[in-house]
Amino acid sequence: MKYAWIIFSFVIGCCLFFACENGSSGEKLLKEPSTIEELGELLFHDSILSRGEQVSCASCHKPQFAFADNVPFSFGVDSIKGTRNTPSSMNMSARNFYFHDGRSETLEEQAGGPMENPVEMDIPLSVIVRKLNNHQQYRRFFIKIFGTTATKQNLVDALAAFERTLETNQSAFDLYNSGADTSKFSLAAKRGQVIFNEKGKCFDCHFGPDFTNDDFKNIGLFNGKDLNDSGRYLITRNLEEIGAFKVPGLRNIEVTKPYMHNGMFNSLREVIDYYDNPDKFVANSVNRDSLLAKPLGLTEEEKKDLEAFLLSLTDQRFLEKTHP
Ligand code: HEC
Ligand code: HEC
Repeated sequence: MKYAWIIFSFVIGCCLFFACENGSSGEKLLKEPSTIEELGELLFHDSILSRGEQVSCASCHKPQFAFADNVPFSFGVDSIKGTRNTPSSMNMSARNFYFHDGRSETLEEQAGGPMENPVEMDIPLSVIVRKLNNHQQYRRFFIKIFGTTATKQNLVDALAAFERTLETNQSAFDLYNSGADTSKFSLAAKRGQVIFNEKGKCFDCHFGPDFTNDDFKNIGLFNGKDLNDSGRYLITRNLEEIGAFKVPGLRNIEVTKPYMHNGMFNSLREVIDYYDNPDKFVANSVNRDSLLAKPLGLTEEEKKDLEAFLLSLTDQRFLEKTHP
């Protein structure tokens, strides 16, 4: 009887020990991070960063769509619909500005935005910090990685550190450029690159390693009526910038549809048709950039080649890694 009692106590003790280890009080078991980036990845995917634990960063920035969303407007807490399209959060390290209107200048500053935004995650940073420090596993992880419990600053530092790992440079275009593998960059893509650089004038705004000049331009998607997001103007109050938006990078553009700040185009072909003749889509745009003043006059063949070039910017290896 005595032995039975000892064995019983031992079994209960073990159960309690493992329950604590696995996060008692209903905590799901998290993968122990060993770097700041891994801690950021855990947080990026965790709805603990939202009111009522409803959405995570990854609910809108979905790994399988190069960390963008596949709907014009994503849903935040209480299924509230946003007013701008979710951009990819990949290839962000070299950017000077974040958001379509560039209202943040660092990834750390940017990360605080969605958490406190009432139509996204709707929770004060101070509340998240308290929750993380009451969470047995996160509390331990922050101490392990930062030497201190969670703070507003190290929370956004971890998220930003994770985002800086999302760089893609193994697309067919990159492999061709570096000479590592020239077989995947098709002849059509090669012809398309010439159109991108010359007749299409795309390169005038989309240049550099990530195909963006990191500037704000108006491509004609503002008319003050049905298209009424005035973009960069909301930040600078400079009338010349009404309807200007951040020039987005074009890496992995194949998988981040729908396109533009308002998700108005569903395919790359539609985007190309737009640039070919913007007036056919938006006749009364205000302040459209002079580069788009005249129709490009692209032939059917040229449009297909241009699309083939855009498709060569997808890093298949990275996408397979994030979503096997
Ligand atoms: C409810 C959907 C939603 C959630 C949740 C969300 N985002 Fe976003 N994210 C967006 C939208 C929409 C934009 C563009 C908003 C704008 O330009 O005004 C954006 C913009 C960004 C950008 C800037 C991209 C660029 O091209 O400038 C980054 C980086 C980013 N989010 C990271 C995050 C992080 C980190 C989290 C979690 C803390 C998060 N997002 C949560 C929808 C979301
Ligand atoms: C005057 C500068 C400029 C020129 C020229 C230009 N773009 Fe853009 N591009 C932009 C801006 C600004 C946006 C974002 C507009 C918005 O969000 O409403 C954009 C958006 C895009 C997008 C959608 C990106 C996304 O993630 O939603 C694609 C694709 C694109 N451009 C391809 C091209 C191609 C192809 C050409 C040439 C035919 C071209 N661009 C010419 C400035 C330019």
